[in-house]
Parts: sequence; C-alpha cells; structure tokens
Amino acid sequence: MLKAYYNALTKIKSPMKNLAQHLETIVQEKTTAIKAIQSCQDVENVRIAFCGRKGHIAHLMEQLKDLPIDEKKIYGPRINQLKTDIQQELDALLHTISQEEIAKKNAQQKNFDVTAYRLKELKGTTHIYTQIIEDLENVFISMGYDIIDGPEAENEYNNFEALNIPAHHPAREEEDSFYLKMPGMLLRTQTSSVQARAMKGKTPPIAFFSPGRVYRKEATDQTHDFLFTQAEGLLINKDVSVSNLLATARTFLQKIFEKDDLNIRVRPGYFPFVEPGLEIDASCPFCTQGCSVCKRTGWIELLGSGLIHPNVLKEGGIDPTIYSGFAFGMGIERIAMIKYGINDIRLFHSSKINFLDQF
Ligand code: DAH
Repeated sequence: MLKAYYNALTKIKSPMKNLAQHLETIVQEKTTAIKAIQSCQDVENVRIAFCGRKGHIAHLMEQLKDLPIDEKKIYGPRINQLKTDIQQELDALLHTISQEEIAKKNAQQKNFDVTAYRLKELKGTTHIYTQIIEDLENVFISMGYDIIDGPEAENEYNNFEALNIPAHHPAREEEDSFYLKMPGMLLRTQTSSVQARAMKGKTPPIAFFSPGRVYRKEATDQTHDFLFTQAEGLLINKDVSVSNLLATARTFLQKIFEKDDLNIRVRPGYFPFVEPGLEIDASCPFCTQGCSVCKRTGWIELLGSGLIHPNVLKEGGIDPTIYSGFAFGMGIERIAMIKYGINDIRLFHSSKINFLDQF
C-alpha cells in the first residue's frame, strides 16, 4: 500500500505555483509519511519518494533553478535542511525498526518448540538381570562383601578340580559343557569357578559376591538355556556355621523380593564342593496358601548352598582346621522370572524390545 502511494507521489509534478507553497506541502507530507512507517521496507520507500533521484527534494531543486538569486539564497538552504532532516529521521527510524524486527524474529524462534517434531525415539533401559544383579550387589556391599569377577573362558581346574569335582565325575562329561579348542579350557558351567581364584593368596576373612554368565550344553526350553546368569557368594572366617549362612540367605532374599517377612527353609542337597550341602527355599512371596508361582506348595527353590568342603578350602590354600565358610549359588534369571512372572528363560537374551521395555 505505502509503496504504491509513494510511487504515485513521486510522479506528481507539483501543481503549486510557487516554491514556498510547494516546500510547505512537502514538509507536511514528510510528517505524515514518516508517521505511517511500520517496517524497514517502508523506510526505504519513503527515502526513495523524498530523497530519490526523482523524489520530492529533487523536484524542489529543479524549481529552485528558475528562481532569482536572492530567493535561491533563502530556499536553497531550507531544501537542504529538509533533506538532512528527512535522512536523519529515516536513519533513526530504520535503526529502531530493525532492532524491533530482530527482537520479534528472535522471540518467534524462541517460542519454536524443538521437541514438538522429534521422531519417536527408543529409550534404552537397564536389562532386567542387570537390575537384579545391581540390587543384589548393593545388599552384599552393605554386608561388607567384595564384588568380584571371573573369566567366562575358564580352565578345568577352577571349574571342577578345585571344587572337589574329580575327573570321573559325570558333571565333567563332554556332552554337558562347551570345551574350547585350547586344551583344558571350557566356558565355565558355574560361577562357583571363582572360588579358588578368590581364595588363593588370601587370609580370611574372605567375603565375596560374584555374578556372571555361565554356559551349559543343553537343549533349551522354557526353563533351560545354554547361556544364563548365576551369582556365587562365599564367606570364610573362623567359626562360620550354617546359622550364618541361613541368616545371610534370609536377609538378601527379603531385600530382593522386597518382603520383610519372607522366610526360608532348608533341605539336604548334594554338591561336591560343600558338606553339608543344602537347598534353600524361600516362602512364596506372592501367597500364603499356595499359588501358581509356588505350584501350590508355598515354597520356591532358590539357592544351592552349604559349608565349604575341607578339600575346597585346602585347594584354595586355606587351613580347614582353622577356618570354615559357607558358599551359595543362584540363578539370576530364575529370581527375575519369579519376581516378575516371566514364563520363558529364553526371553532374557532374545533382544525382544517389547519384553525388555517392561522393566
Ligand atoms: N554351582 C551350583 C550350580 O551351578 C550352585 C551352587 C550350589 C553353588 C551349592 C554353591 C553351593 O556355592 O554351595 O548349580
């Protein structure tokens, strides 16, 4: 609008009879034009209309040429002054308006919500057994245990011999374990394999908790997998007894299942590296009278355990006449399956996002 108006203005040859009147009109025109300015572009249009080659000022100058010298002396400086005034006013306006326009643009950018258009992203979560392992580690750290690690590619000595499992023992049969090409090496079948490593060169008290992967050559089904996670715990000191073992087991099971009144019971069990060997069951965390989780028995089998066999202590360089200890082992997936009602162990390393996402 404004542009068209000023373009038109520049084309009008002033109908005024004398320069004084014409000058007067242009001064008024200037005031009106400047008042109407709203944008940088308007400033430019007004500048062209007044100070451009064919603008009002140029027009006035043309008229001035024909005047007598004494009138030139009066109107010449007035026209120049008018031109300077217009330039200055327009410069000042341009400065303010451009600042305002920048501020407006910035404000618009600030209000732009960069999160509104993002792609739906997949958020990573801690794997369910990592969560359980971390919870367990925290319980054992609070009881003064060290957290230790052991190699998954292990030698037969640490996986079997040091644990009182001699060469002829059926657990060592080739069909049951993944033997490596390197002689005497296999993928460990149990985290109990860290025991000898943790005892050698140490003087009791020794207390550690050691989670990690184990491998067994077996057909997979809902409750068996060739790769799963176990944790081994051990305490050696003077006068360690079964009651220490039971108190420890009950404490950490209560914490893991978040149930302060969780109880345990003990049944005899056989493991070559403990004597006596004990199976520890927990009272079902979900019922009092029997449910599908505990198969209506009210109890859930959770731990293999016992007092460390004297042969195992000897292999670890510890005198069984001075020291005694307990050890226990558990399946991490089994704990997770019970705690969260998961019915297939194979889901744990299936990479199924829908499954993993839930925890
Ligand atoms: N290593 C045993 C297994 O894989 C679990 C176990 C049983 C660990 C008795 C122990 C223990 O420390 O005393 O089934």
